[in-house]
This record gives sequence, structure tokens and C-alpha cells, in this order.
Amino acid sequence: MLNKLIIENMPYPDFVGLINQWNVLPGAFTTLNKWINHSYIDSSSNILQIACTTGFQVREIAHLTKCSGKAFDLSRYAIESAIKNKKIYSPSANIEYFVQDGLNFKTNEKFTHVIVGGGLKFFSNPRKMVENIISYFDDDGYLLASPFYAIKEVPSEVLDSCKQMFGIDVTHEPYDEVMKLYKDFEILYEDRNQLRFESEEDISYYCDCITRRAVKNLNCEDLYPVIYDRLYKIKEVTNELRKYQEYSVLVLRYRKNIYPERYVELF
Ligand SMILES: C[S@@+](CC[C@H](N)C(=O)[O-])C[C@H]1O[C@@H](n2cnc3c(N)ncnc32)[C@H](O)[C@@H]1O
Repeated sequence: MLNKLIIENMPYPDFVGLINQWNVLPGAFTTLNKWINHSYIDSSSNILQIACTTGFQVREIAHLTKCSGKAFDLSRYAIESAIKNKKIYSPSANIEYFVQDGLNFKTNEKFTHVIVGGGLKFFSNPRKMVENIISYFDDDGYLLASPFYAIKEVPSEVLDSCKQMFGIDVTHEPYDEVMKLYKDFEILYEDRNQLRFESEEDISYYCDCITRRAVKNLNCEDLYPVIYDRLYKIKEVTNELRKYQEYSVLVLRYRKNIYPERYVELF
């Protein structure tokens, strides 16, 4: 039985999963469209999303392109919401969701595209996850990412609030540092983007929409203020962080007979 204490003390990823916050990637639909167009996703593609939270990225790509795919997350609350979302918002999407730790995920199935969004940052060992990802491709494949990078020094009080809120160190490294994780791939497409600072009105409306749906689905109308307050605080902190970050949209290519060499300069 849910109560105030449980909601307030749940780990961040479980809270997001439980209330079905569509914890979307930087750039949301705009980034998805850039990925689809610049990595040629179509109905013959088989995509995999690592750490999918409530399933937004694969579901919406499958909805737009009719591709097939799989997606996993460590949080069972996130996967329960991902499965429900597919049934409600895109029943024909050919996507399977399951609970899995990416660092231990091995498979013989081959994928044309692997999607990480801004998610590698959440892994305890991002480099090991990248090595695993290589094994999911056949002789070539696309890695789709949208990492944040810092454009100025992030104040320590902002970093501390983020650590307390999300349980991880949020991105405060500059662009060159962030890109080191992707250095062995060919950069097929890239652009760098500013983040929009949301007004109080925008945040309140968003939090109200998410909370109203959550309390209805979880049958706990009395917990509206508790869920709303935790979500609002999360949004406040991420909004503040937006002053110090930008994000890059990346289409990276793996080719077995090139990786990890670099035959093309960086621009
Ligand atoms: C990846 S981020 C969310 C990404 C965001 N939707 C995006 O693309 O920008 C957070 C998610 O990572 C998941 N996660 C963290 N470590 C994981 C692991 N080892 N294996 C699978 N999922 C993991 C968490 O459960 C959480 O739902």
C-alpha cells in the first residue's frame, strides 16, 4: 500500500517509473526525428534501447517508423509503466520491454541501432556498457546518443542538490571530456543544442498533468500533494541545471573493419 513515506523515500528511478513520468531524452521528439532521418531507421530496423525508463524513445520511434525492437531498464516500476504505455499509446508498436541490468546483458540477437540517449551517465561503468553495446551489432550498426555537456562551471550547491535528488553526479564536464566515451565511433551526424529554461507556469502545468494521471492510475488521490511536490522539486533542480548545460545529438556508426581506428578528422 503506497503512502507518503514510501513515495518520499523511493530511489529516483523507481519514483519516475512508478508515477510514469515520461522521462524523455534531451530534445524529446526533435532528437528522435533527427536520429530517424540521419540513421535511416525504417520498418526493417531492429532497435534496442538501453535504460529505457518508461519506454518513450523506442515506443515513439516504432510508432513513427514501424521498426521492431527491445528495451530494458533496471527498475521494475519503470518497465511496468513502459508496458502499460505501449498498450495505451502505441498498441501496434512491435517493442518488447523487460527488466535487465545492462552491464550483464548478453544476447545473440543482432540490432541495427542501439539507443542510449543521455543515459550512459546513469551507469556505474559507462565504458563497460559501451563495450557490451558493440557486441549487439553485426558487422555494422548505429549508436544513438544525446549527451549533456557543461558550458560553464556548475556551482557546487547545484551539483549537491542534483546528487541528493538523483543519486548520481550529473554532467558537469565540458564537451571534449564528455565526447571521450564515444571516441571510437564514426560521427555520422552531430549538432549541438541549447536547453530551454522553463517558466514556473510550464513546470506547474507539466507536474499537474503527470500527477493527475499517476494518482488516478495508482488509485491514491490522497497522495496528489506528495507526488506533485517530489516531481516539482526534481523539475526545479533540472531546470536550474539547464543554465549550465547544452546537449549534443549524435548518430555514431560502428563498423567492424574500422572500429576503433579513426580515419576521419574531428570537426
Ligand atoms: C538512463 S536514465 C534515463 C534516460 C533518459 N530517458 C534519456 O534517455 O535521457 C535513467 C535510467 O537508467 C536506468 N539504469 C541505471 N543503471 C542501469 C543499468 N545498469 N541497467 C539498466 N538500466 C539502468 C535507471 O533505472 C533509470 O530508469
